[in-house]
Amino acid sequence: MNTNDSVKFFDAQFQQQVRDRDFRLNPFELAALSYLHGRVLDYGCGLGNLAFAAARRGCSVVALDASPAAIAHIEQRAAAEALSVHAALADLRNYQLNEEFDAVVCIGLLMFFDCPSAFKVLSNLQAHVREGGLAVVNVLVEGTTYFEMFDARDHCLFPRTELASRFADWRILRSEFSDFEAPGGRNKAFATIVARKPRIDQ
Ligand SMILES: C[S@@+](CC[C@H](N)C(=O)[O-])C[C@H]1O[C@@H](n2cnc3c(N)ncnc32)[C@H](O)[C@@H]1O
Repeated sequence: MNTNDSVKFFDAQFQQQVRDRDFRLNPFELAALSYLHGRVLDYGCGLGNLAFAAARRGCSVVALDASPAAIAHIEQRAAAEALSVHAALADLRNYQLNEEFDAVVCIGLLMFFDCPSAFKVLSNLQAHVREGGLAVVNVLVEGTTYFEMFDARDHCLFPRTELASRFADWRILRSEFSDFEAPGGRNKAFATIVARKPRIDQ
């Protein structure tokens, strides 16, 4: 599989987190959890912390990522805890989905693709949410000044209004910007959206 510098960056981080037994949900995962039900796709799942929390609440989760350390950890933990989390190692820049989901989560992934790929993947994810289902999407936006985790060639800071405009036809349940301090006095600026896909008869 073609893994780039950002996948290597996170794979090393996940190896350390597994050694430290550090499986906390990040703030975006915590905020997403209460929206999830049924069949859930976690696209760019990292260590699967959200996937396991959702499975414990009765969801059946497909968890995809390009980090071998993350996917090995998820497979082992899903078997040990007998939870409905199915993990697969995949390059998500061009991954073919074959089903619709009640909820699609994509937290902190799309900015690692070049912008045309990121927008194409986002459209593909939206197409695989069932009518009345939910999407939770989080990306880094313009205003971010911390770049350590980016591959030099492939990354995309979303224009600040991009997510909102791409969900213009959906019912927005939550839409927010949040800033986090990064090393060296730099900044990570995120946009997050939770939106419900309209039913065709509405
Ligand atoms: C910021 S982490 C977010 C992980 C998780 N969603 C979370 O909230 O903790 C970014 C994730 O994107 C994954 N990733 C980056 N590029 C990828 C690619 N081309 N295909 C699949 N996963 C990728 C990394 O391995 C990492 O797990």
